[in-house]
Amino acid sequence: MSDSAELILEGKSYALPIVVGTENEKAIDINALRAQTGHITIDSGYKNTGATQSAITYLDGELGVLHYRGYSIEQLAAKSNFIEVAYLLIYGELPTQHELTHFNEQISKRTLIHENFRTLLSAYPADAHPMAILASMICSLTAFHPDSLDPNLTEEQIDLNITRLLGKITTIAAWSYKHAVGKPFVYPKKSLDYCSNFLQMMFSNPTENYHVNPVVVDALNKLLILHADHEQNCSTSTVRLVGSSNASLFGSISAGVNALWGPLHGGANQEVIEMLEAIKADGGDSKKWIDKAKDKNDPFRLMGFGHRVYKNFDPRAKIIKAACDNILYNLGVKDPILEIAKQLEEAALTDPYFVERKLYPNVDFYSGIIYKAIGLPKEMFTVMFAIGRLPGWIAQWKEMRENKEPIGRPRQIYTGQTAREYVDIKNR
Ligand code: CMC
Repeated sequence: MSDSAELILEGKSYALPIVVGTENEKAIDINALRAQTGHITIDSGYKNTGATQSAITYLDGELGVLHYRGYSIEQLAAKSNFIEVAYLLIYGELPTQHELTHFNEQISKRTLIHENFRTLLSAYPADAHPMAILASMICSLTAFHPDSLDPNLTEEQIDLNITRLLGKITTIAAWSYKHAVGKPFVYPKKSLDYCSNFLQMMFSNPTENYHVNPVVVDALNKLLILHADHEQNCSTSTVRLVGSSNASLFGSISAGVNALWGPLHGGANQEVIEMLEAIKADGGDSKKWIDKAKDKNDPFRLMGFGHRVYKNFDPRAKIIKAACDNILYNLGVKDPILEIAKQLEEAALTDPYFVERKLYPNVDFYSGIIYKAIGLPKEMFTVMFAIGRLPGWIAQWKEMRENKEPIGRPRQIYTGQTAREYVDIKNR
């Protein structure tokens, strides 16, 4: 088999090396292309561009396969918990019991945030979107921990920032919710596991005892695991790109949070519930909304459908759909929008428009229904995605740094005016 591709350009032949991954994915290496030929490549949306070589997550969009460090998402969702998966993504191997206990301790002892964050929070309007608060507060961590700005940190110092971030994100998220509803902030409890602690900070209040429901903890662990990494998606590429300038971990991840917020990315989970509620309020006629999504003169898209990479099914959506019925049953929740979601899915999957374009429900389609059943307001859904994606962002930032990747700086083909003389304002 040839280990190079031949490019014939302006009558000259160039051999371009082939890179092969461990799962036999293949790429043409164009690192020397511009130097050798004077040409660059154009690939809007980076549909064919591999920005890096990464050992973290493998996915096959045609077969619906998703692996973290070689372990299938199905096995991890069934057998693991979020912190164990976070360790796996960040450090490359499943932890021993000792390593896991130590990691948990390091995270839980850093869940407190500086008291001045209360003052910062109080300055936000009550209806501020919690993603705006999350992005700003994560960036603000650089101000409270200025040591994190040093681009030459040791491994231990980086580990410290990693556990700081994993610990503090749940407190920031829960407090942004408490601020929105005008209820007292609840402090983290070291005695609780990661998900239970988050739930008690969200839902307990000083006047009552709060019982953490194990069904909810289990559901939360599953959802966070399923969101934990997804190779070079928009927010992860953002984290790597920002980090490639030697920006701090907190600064890079704050940028990732903003990228995630967009409705075509993580923001879709909030949009899905809003769409399902709108369909319900409109009489529940899913066909009418499918027709709207197909109408090229209508900007409406069926939220929670389609994926840049998955063209068969999204394995995360499959697991979440199965979990959804179970969780709603165990929580005793009957939500009519689940029925609408199922009708919509069924109708869309048999409609030639969706079949031809290989548009299937993605991870965001059913996750919101579970979050809603747990009692989370829809503005918090994308925040939950961010908490889940955090270990992936951290792992990718760390890998980019360890691989000493150069600063990310794409090129362009200029299509504007050619050189012209400045015209004085009175002559324009
Ligand atoms: N509803 C209706 N039509 C759609 C949809 C949709 N949700 N998604 C794609 N299409 C159509 C699109 O109009 C285009 O049609 P045509 O070929 O006639 O022009 C065709 O399908 C291909 O779409 P595309 O926009 O070129 O595909 P993409 O790979 O650039 O976009 C996507 C992927 C996820 C942005 C898109 O499918 C979408 O907007 N989906 C809705 C938003 C959503 O659910 N996002 C969450 C993604 S999963 C979570 C995450 O990882 O972020």
